[in-house]
Amino acid sequence: MSYENIEVRTEGGQVGIITLNRPKALNALNGPLMDELGTALKAFDEDEAIGCIIITGSEKAFAAGADIAAMAKFNFHEVYKNDFITRNWETIRSIRKPVIAAVSGFALGGGCELAMMCDFIIAADNAKFGQPEIKIGIIPGAGGTQRLPRAMGKSKAMDLVLTGRMMDAQEAERGGLVSRVVPLDKLMDEALGAALMICGYGRLSVMAAKESVNRAFESGLSDGVMFERRIFHGLFATADQKEGMDAFLNKRAPKFIHG
Ligand code: CAA
Repeated sequence: MSYENIEVRTEGGQVGIITLNRPKALNALNGPLMDELGTALKAFDEDEAIGCIIITGSEKAFAAGADIAAMAKFNFHEVYKNDFITRNWETIRSIRKPVIAAVSGFALGGGCELAMMCDFIIAADNAKFGQPEIKIGIIPGAGGTQRLPRAMGKSKAMDLVLTGRMMDAQEAERGGLVSRVVPLDKLMDEALGAALMICGYGRLSVMAAKESVNRAFESGLSDGVMFERRIFHGLFATADQKEGMDAFLNKRAPKFIHG
């Protein structure tokens, strides 16, 4: 499959890497790019060989937001009828394998929202995050007002959404949006290291862990804990649980079969 707005490759036969590639528009997210991203994500999710996916951009921009040129002329009935912005964003939520955002440069508006839809964010020290939609007469439309307060708390989210200011990688890490900050030239090594580590574990427990952490954002504590417990119980039906525990007890490296 050939793409025009993204580049797709694999690393070590196990990690799927998607690079957003509209450099002239700082990787602004338009319909064709989001469709290609959805197709590539689904293909990696269905590929038995792939254990983890990385989404990244360029040094200057992960993505500078939804494409303002593409949406400037839209009116209410068009955006409402076409369910604008969420139409093909839900695909990202449906991916069951871990998705890491490796962010350098601008991650603004829809770019910040895309990074937040990934499972965790590793940022280069030049990364800048923000929800600047207020400056162009709108509000975030791909989950920014919901995921930012969950990630960083109300005060920081309100500050960013209401002022439209950018925050640097250090502030994003302090606030919990970002899991790690690394020098720009180490970004892909760091993301690949994390991805390969995840690929080394049993696929079922990795998918179950992702599903269970995500449930924390969709349920109350008792329901979430019960959900976790049932999945935890279920993993005792897998060969990888037997293998992982036997390997530990016999002081050897486990050989997971992903079953
Ligand atoms: N949409 C379309 N084009 C964009 C873009 C965007 N979001 N962001 C940047 N570009 C384009 C610029 O128009 C410019 O194109 P030309 O060279 O043809 O003029 C090119 O990318 C380079 O941008 P700048 O010259 O502006 O680069 P800069 O380094 O001076 O500034 C920036 C970088 C601060 C990121 C600035 O480009 C900017 O503020 N961009 C807009 C950010 C924004 O408002 N994002 C939110 C969009 S709305 C949204 O995302 C809704 C949602 O919730 C989904």
